[in-house]
Amino acid sequence: MKKILVLVGSGTPRGSTMQLTDAFIAGAQEAGHQVKKVFLGNKQIEGCRGCNFCQRSGSCVIKDDMQKLYPLFEESDVLVFASPLFFWTISARIKAFIERLYATSKDDKFPKKETMLLMTAGDENFWTFEQSVSYYRFVTQAIEWQNIGMCLAGGTKIEDGKHIIKENYLEEAFQLGKNTITRSEQND
Ligand SMILES: Cc1cc2nc3c(=O)[nH]c(=O)nc-3n(C[C@H](O)[C@H](O)[C@H](O)COP(=O)(O)O)c2cc1C
Repeated sequence: MKKILVLVGSGTPRGSTMQLTDAFIAGAQEAGHQVKKVFLGNKQIEGCRGCNFCQRSGSCVIKDDMQKLYPLFEESDVLVFASPLFFWTISARIKAFIERLYATSKDDKFPKKETMLLMTAGDENFWTFEQSVSYYRFVTQAIEWQNIGMCLAGGTKIEDGKHIIKENYLEEAFQLGKNTITRSEQND
């Protein structure tokens, strides 16, 4: 059993990203993992100020909602970033969360985590998620996190105010939650 922290960087709790996230969580819970989902859309999380206070004191000087998320981050084994594609990259909410993890580092060493990326987008070209995936791969490698899976769901729509995501991506996310984390556990 792994502890999974899922960060949802969408602005709406009823959107395609949340649907993809919930399918992933259903799979992970079916496999017996413990999941904590955090919707960042109603949280106040500033970007890092770069003041370096955290490197001297061990804690972040900014007193916002990130303070409640640091303990959840510390206790998690797997970190899942769920984001809509906004202007060809991850949402600002996810980016701000990642910046603030600087406070969890010491001498550029970060707590070890396995990570996953779930994304939705209106477009569905072969290059749609290129920038986001490139950024995600770069960050995980630099921080020495281990990427264990991605689900990139293009072609979402809004019809009559309803956010619609293709069924095959919900199934893919469910299977990712159900199988991938357990497989990585067997390799531990
Ligand atoms: C501000 C904004 C920027 C967007 N930028 C892109 C984009 O660059 N490429 C794209 O394919 N879709 C883009 N979209 C569409 C969203 O990625 C898509 O609707 C996504 O599934 C929304 O997720 P949500 O329902 O969780 O909000 C954008 C939507 C918004 C609101």
